Formats: sequence, structure tokens, C-alpha cells
Amino acid sequence: MQGSKILAGKAVAEFVNQQTIEKIEILKEKGFNPGLVVVLVGDDPASAVYVRSKGRMCEKMGILSKTYHLPAETSETELLNLIDELNNDDRYNGILVQLPLPKQINEAKVIESINHLKDVDCFHPRNVGLLSIGSPYLLPCTPAGIIEILKFYKIETSGKDVVVIGRSNIVGKPMANILIQKSEHANATVSIVHSRTKDLQRYTKNADIVIAAIGQPAFLKPDMVKEDVVIIDVGINRVEDASTEKGYRIVGDVDYNGLFEMSSAITPVPGGVGVMTISMLMHNTIHACAKQNNIDL
Ligand SMILES: NC(=O)c1ccc[n+]([C@@H]2O[C@H](COP(=O)([O-])OP(=O)(O)OC[C@H]3O[C@@H](n4cnc5c(N)ncnc54)[C@H](OP(=O)(O)O)[C@@H]3O)[C@@H](O)[C@H]2O)c1
Repeated sequence: MQGSKILAGKAVAEFVNQQTIEKIEILKEKGFNPGLVVVLVGDDPASAVYVRSKGRMCEKMGILSKTYHLPAETSETELLNLIDELNNDDRYNGILVQLPLPKQINEAKVIESINHLKDVDCFHPRNVGLLSIGSPYLLPCTPAGIIEILKFYKIETSGKDVVVIGRSNIVGKPMANILIQKSEHANATVSIVHSRTKDLQRYTKNADIVIAAIGQPAFLKPDMVKEDVVIIDVGINRVEDASTEKGYRIVGDVDYNGLFEMSSAITPVPGGVGVMTISMLMHNTIHACAKQNNIDL
């Protein structure tokens, strides 16, 4: 959809979900029933919300799903034992361990313990490596959702100057890694900036596309970008708001109202990148199922 200024994630998610549903039918006709298992450790309320919505989405799409909710005091060994069991359970093509994990558990060790073929988050070092050499097994969900948004709204990335704010392993680094590849919907010139960057505006002011994944409400302001910039806001931040029933509202990492006029396109929060992440998880689960069974989807 060309020329749309508000890059609504819902329309893109519906498009991707429809394709996923059709592919699930193909897999089922061939006798394969894709399955996803999610492991949640502890009582982080935001994580619990994400996990519930993943389960509901699987159910809606006809993907077998199971959630393990382990207590906050679960030991690393107990979690590793469960992952070992799930690695060997043929019902599940995808294993997702919800992050963050309680502090007694080493996240890197847990990620490495997941069978890389079932790593639907694409956080396993082997899959990170494959992505950086341009032969991805799957793409990590949030950056993959951003690529789908750019594709859907026909936003060119080839030859563009892109600035990614944030260097996390979940968003910033894989986002940059995807966009620098010599491939379709990539071929960008990418800078990654972070909290130690000297004069961050020097980069953002020259960017054609800014992708903000910082975790700070309204960090990106109008004086930091040029006219007609494309803005992708990954941030999900709770800010107090006594006028709402819950006492808070969700805002992104960019000053949406301030940037709306000067940008050529912008993702809203909520309703932008966030809704895509779960769609890409479903997409990854069925593609993992296909790859594990040598089916070309
Ligand atoms: N839409 C979705 O589905 C989705 C998925 C994942 C995350 N998110 C949201 O996206 C945001 C980022 O998530 P994340 O997991 O990438 O966060 P993270 O791991 O906390 O990383 C934040 C990054 O922002 C950088 N940063 C922080 N303050 C900065 C500053 N003042 N100037 C420049 N850079 C700064 C940090 O720099 P240093 O490395 O130097 O500390 C870090 O690289 C959060 O709001 C999160 O909730 C959304």
C-alpha cells in the first residue's frame, strides 16, 4: 500500500496471518500439525500478557500450543532439563522461552540449549550467525515484522540511510543485520547508535529511515530528524495517566505528535510494530515445521 502516512501494523498483520493460515492448511494436508511451546518463568505481568496472547493466536490459527508456567524460583538446571525434554518432543516445532528470565538463570545458556531448528525467536548463536552471513534460518520476530511493514507499504530500503537507535540482541542488532544484507528489502546503509554514541543527532538528522528501539518514552524529537523521514517506533513504554481506567497508557520511543507532520510515514504505538511480532512468531513456527520436515512452503 503506497503513500500511506500512518504505517498501521494491523493491516500488515492480517495480510501475513492470512498467508500463514494458508500455509498451515498445506502442512496439515501433508500430515504435519505445527506446534509451539512457550515457557514462562516467574510472574512478570507484561510477560504473562505476551504469553497469553501467543497461546490465543496459536489457537485461532490452528497451531498446537502449550505453555509451561514455572515458578520464579525455578533453577537453571530445572529449566535446562525442561528444554531438553521439549527439544526431543516431536509435537513442538518451535520453543520460545519468554525473556527476561529471573536472575539466577543465565539467559545465554538457556538460549544456546534450545535446538537451533526449534529456535523460532532466532536468538540462538547459530541462527544469529546464519543471519549475519546472509543465509538466515528464520528472521527474529520483531525485526521481521518491521521488514513486513516496510514491504507492505512499499517503503524502499535499497540505498537508503537507515539509523537504528538501540543495540539489543532482540531488536537493534538483528534489525541492522537484516537491512545491510545484499538482498531484497535490504541493501541499506545502516548506522547503529546507542547510549555511548557521541552526538547521536548527527546520525539521525541525516537518516532517511529511523528505527527507534530504546525503551524511553518520546526519546526521538522533531529537531533530531530531517523532513520526510520514515519513522519506525519499536518502543513499548508504560507512562502514568490518571485519566485512563488502568492509570497508565502505552507510548513509543518517539514523539509521535511532534513528528507526525514532518515525517513521510510513521508507525503508531500501539498499533504499529507491536502487533506484528506475534504474527511473525506464527510465521516462524510454521516455517520451522516445514524446514524440519523438508517441505518447501
Ligand atoms: N514491538 C515489539 O514487539 C517489541 C519487541 C521488543 C522490544 N520492544 C520495545 O522496544 C524497546 C527496546 O527494546 P530492547 O529490548 O531493544 O531494549 P534494551 O535491551 O533495553 O536496549 C535498549 C537500547 O537502547 C539504547 N539506549 C538507551 N538509552 C539511550 C539513550 N539515551 N540514547 C541512545 N541509546 C539509548 C541502549 O544503549 P546501550 O546498549 O548503550 O545501553 C540499548 O542499546 C522497548 O521499549 C521494548 O519494550 C518492542
